Amino acid sequence: MGNWKMNKTFEEAMEFVVGIQDRSAEIPTDVEVMIAPPALYIAPMEMIKEPVYQLAAQNCSQHSYGAFTGEISPAMLESMSIRYALVGHSERRTYFHETDELLAKKIDGCFLHQVVPVFCCGERLEERKEKRHFITVLHQLEHALYHLKPEQMQKVIVAYEPVWAIGTGIVASTEQVQEMHAFVRTSLADHFGEATSSVVRILYGGSVSPSNSAELFACEDVDGGLVGGASLKVRDFIQIIQSASKS
Ligand code: PGA
Repeated sequence: MGNWKMNKTFEEAMEFVVGIQDRSAEIPTDVEVMIAPPALYIAPMEMIKEPVYQLAAQNCSQHSYGAFTGEISPAMLESMSIRYALVGHSERRTYFHETDELLAKKIDGCFLHQVVPVFCCGERLEERKEKRHFITVLHQLEHALYHLKPEQMQKVIVAYEPVWAIGTGIVASTEQVQEMHAFVRTSLADHFGEATSSVVRILYGGSVSPSNSAELFACEDVDGGLVGGASLKVRDFIQIIQSASKS
């Protein structure tokens, strides 16, 4: 899943779309490709014939409609058949002060409108240094997701993104990644049951690149990646997609 954040002019976005569509034959059929572009570009990117990607919003409001200037809602996404939305990206938590309590409401808003939340969690550097990374992530899961029914939880995509690895070029080691992904899966099993936790997809994010993606995706509990910087270039993004193929 590519997360473009607040990057690309409209022209650059369209160049990317043409570029990736031209190379659609190189995209393995067993990998699901999603792109979260800036909200303005969702509509034009949705109009492409037989897109190789599914679209996601980078954020959405907890409300369905109303006087919330600047927001886009899960009801709007539903009305455009946009099936995914990132919820709780660390940049939203840091710069827009989103709390787990608010994120729980956004998750509910998504479910009200058939939008699949891609819930982001992850610790800051100081939390890892103080060995509080597991408790931090557990707290995030508990407060934002544990009120869901197991059948809802099965649909949620979890993205583990250690904040210290986002946009820094410092990628977590495969041991650190696998350890945390296994922890997330076990925690979900403890609360929702094995049948649910085994089907939840857990993505890793934080400086994923063509040079490290294969190794990361080979980890047992890693089901894919949430890719920022490297999703902006067609060539890099396609290489990452290819490395997620099991065939
Ligand atoms: P990055 O961003 O790949 O540029 O580190 C990942 C993300 O924030 O989703």
